[in-house]
Amino acid sequence: MAAHSKFLGKNWVDVSSVTRAELEYFLKLSASMKDAIRNERVDDYKLARDRDLFAALLFYEPSTRTRFSFEIAALRLGLRPVGFSGTEATSVKKGESLLDTVDMFDAYDMDAVILRHPLDGAAKAVTEHLVRDSGKPLCCFNGGDGQNEHPTQGLLDVFTIQECCGRLHDLEIGIAVDPKYGRTTHSFPVLLGLFPNNRFHVFSHPDLRMPKAVIQHLGDRGVQVIEYFEDPNALKAKLPDLDFLYMTRLQRERFEDDAEYYAARDMFLFTPEMMKRTKPTFGVGHPLPDNKEFPTIHPSLKGHAKFWPKRQAGNGVPTRLTEMALSLGLAGFDFDGDLHRPRAAVGDCFRDRDPGGQKERSGPVDIRPVVNGTVIDHVEGNPYVIQKISKLLRLCERGDVFRMGVVEPIKRPDQRKGVMMVKDRLLEEQDLRLIATIAPGATVNDIQDGRVVRKRDLFLPEVVEGLPGTNCTNHRCITRHEYHEHVPVKAMRVGPEGKNIVKCYYCNNLMQSDELF
Ligand code: NCD
Repeated sequence: MAAHSKFLGKNWVDVSSVTRAELEYFLKLSASMKDAIRNERVDDYKLARDRDLFAALLFYEPSTRTRFSFEIAALRLGLRPVGFSGTEATSVKKGESLLDTVDMFDAYDMDAVILRHPLDGAAKAVTEHLVRDSGKPLCCFNGGDGQNEHPTQGLLDVFTIQECCGRLHDLEIGIAVDPKYGRTTHSFPVLLGLFPNNRFHVFSHPDLRMPKAVIQHLGDRGVQVIEYFEDPNALKAKLPDLDFLYMTRLQRERFEDDAEYYAARDMFLFTPEMMKRTKPTFGVGHPLPDNKEFPTIHPSLKGHAKFWPKRQAGNGVPTRLTEMALSLGLAGFDFDGDLHRPRAAVGDCFRDRDPGGQKERSGPVDIRPVVNGTVIDHVEGNPYVIQKISKLLRLCERGDVFRMGVVEPIKRPDQRKGVMMVKDRLLEEQDLRLIATIAPGATVNDIQDGRVVRKRDLFLPEVVEGLPGTNCTNHRCITRHEYHEHVPVKAMRVGPEGKNIVKCYYCNNLMQSDELF
């Protein structure tokens, strides 16, 4: 038996960091916790009874299930819960930032922070911020961040699907109503994607389709997602094939335009007639709440054997108790499987190429060469890109002498490219990083006495951070300046080097790298 659990200090803030070994261990332990709670075997679940541990519940958005299941789980485990539900009586109303508020609970030596927040990426921002010197972990549990993720719900959803279907592989799962804003639908499918042959059928209004980033993430795990957004009868037709149907509520509070809500409001109601068309082992679930005025599951189905939402909500207690027990080092000592270990992203953005002592020449393009300075070549042919670079290098502000333009090389007139020459200035690493992000594929030549003395090919670095003037294009991202949360932009390269696609580290938003500026 190991002295420490491998889970000690684990944050449960996103689903992509959960491995299959972890998930299988977690599901087994959750089942035994559920049984222990049912049968009041207090010694088996009150694992913190001899400790003095605290959980801070910081709920910036309304919640019934997530808040109380965490609170009840904390109490059953032997933790003492403190915190707030709604920010009305807190210093958030005086303009305090999320990280400053969390810092206070850190100062009070809390052991767990359970966070629900309206901005995408909030929980991830907390874990980036909280690196404790003391060695005593302050673990973060994401109870829903904006429209991004809800990983602790995802875990209880998977636990429930296993109870209902008796397996986690070879499943045909339906997801209906609001896969765009419904954060729960961005979490459990990724976890189920760890098991083979699961297929998702996603039913929605055309304006409420599942985000591309989620579909791509599932695709990377080899999971097939089939979308049905044109035919309103598609759900009815597909029902006989489904093992589980996950209904959701229209997340009206997150809609940018209320017209979107009215257009989609009456599209989905799961009726008793529809239930008759399902397999004997089928189950319908819902993260709840359902809206009483426009329910998505007909109220008369509540006592039905295939109606799972109440059991699903109940599973919030044993699963969340298990997450906290594992992270606080109260359980998990016999787990010897793999945990997710993120590979440190490399920040390199250029490769040196033999400059060959070439003379800088006007050559195939008609611009006068510089004698001393820098030539940035092979910039993408869109004139805005070259204009953006000149702005970011502050050429005018600095009073640099420069020439730039979009040219048609004589040999390849079809391939327009941007070229820029800056007199008497060699670029610094930060300048290269900016250009590599906006115009990966460009080359930077250092010119001395009319000769190329250094030549570098730029490429998009694996991690883009610390660059001035960047912004995530998702208007609900915690890094956006207008929220004043002071979380710096950080984006990760996805896919092959040449594709120039990045994903926001916090909110998972996919962008072209030049969109960051
Ligand atoms: C969901 C949420 O808050 O994301 N509820 C929950 O946590 N069980 C779903 C919703 O609000 O519709």
